[in-house]
Amino acid sequence: MTNYRIKKYNGLKVCYLNELDGGGTSFGQDYLSFIPRMSKKKFGRAYEWCAGPGFIGFSLLANGFCDSLCVSDVHLPAINALKETVKINGLENKVSIYHSDSLDSIPDNEKWDLVVGNPPHYKKDPTLKNLSDDNIRIVLDKDLDIHKRFFSNVKKHLNEEGVILLQENWHRVALDEFKEMLVEYNIEFKFSSPFSNKFFYLCAARSNNQIKLLKPPSWSTKYTEHSFKGKLKKLAKKILQRN
Ligand SMILES: C[S@@+](CC[C@H](N)C(=O)[O-])C[C@H]1O[C@@H](n2cnc3c(N)ncnc32)[C@H](O)[C@@H]1O
Repeated sequence: MTNYRIKKYNGLKVCYLNELDGGGTSFGQDYLSFIPRMSKKKFGRAYEWCAGPGFIGFSLLANGFCDSLCVSDVHLPAINALKETVKINGLENKVSIYHSDSLDSIPDNEKWDLVVGNPPHYKKDPTLKNLSDDNIRIVLDKDLDIHKRFFSNVKKHLNEEGVILLQENWHRVALDEFKEMLVEYNIEFKFSSPFSNKFFYLCAARSNNQIKLLKPPSWSTKYTEHSFKGKLKKLAKKILQRN
C-alpha cells in the first residue's frame, strides 16, 4: 500500500507523493483568487488537465467553485493517488478520473464548463543535468505536442459557455505561440494575465463567449489597440486644428 502524504483543502484530503507535485500546492492555488476576477458564477463541471494528484481541481471542488470534477493524467502513480483521494473523501459520484495522454482517452461525452491546468511548460529539453524521469515528465512538452493535441480536441468537450484557463510560463513559451495554436484550432483567445514573475493565465473559449477580466489592471487597457487608435484620432484632430 502506498503511504501518501495529505494536503487538505477546505476539509478535502488530497493524497499525493512529493514527486507528483508540479506546483499545484503552491502557484496552482492562485486559481482560487484569480477565478473570481473573471467570473463570480459557480461552474457546473470542471476539468483539470495534466492533473497530477489534482491539487487544483480538488481545491476548486472543495471551495465550491464547481459542482463536479473530471481529472486526467498520463502517469499511473498520479492516477492511483487521484483514486485514493476519491475513495477517502467518498467523492465517487462527483469525480471522474481518466488515465489519458493529453485528451486522447477522454470519452466524447465528457463536457466541461471550466478547464484548468498547470501542464508541462518546456518545449525543449531542459539543459539542467541529472533530472529524474519525474522532473522531465513534469516539465517537458517537446515541441508543444501535448498542448497541440489538447487544443485540437478540447472544443468537443467544452460546453457552450465553457472557459479554458491554463497556467503557462512565459519564460518557456511566448504568448504568441499559443495564440497561433488557438487560431489553428478555431478557439478564441480571450485574455492573458500574469500572476507571478514566471507564470501567466491563458484564457480561451468559443467565439460567442463574452468572458473577460472583470477589472483588468490599468496597464492592460492602457496599451490596447482600441485606446491606441483613440489616441491616434485625438492626435490627428489636434494637428488638423493647428493647421
Ligand atoms: C507541471 S506538472 C503539474 C502537476 C499538477 N497538476 C500540479 O499542479 O502539481 C505536469 C503534469 O502533466 C502530466 N503530463 C505530462 N505529460 C502528459 C501527457 N502527455 N498527457 C497528460 N498528462 C501529462 C505529468 O504527469 C504531470 O502530472
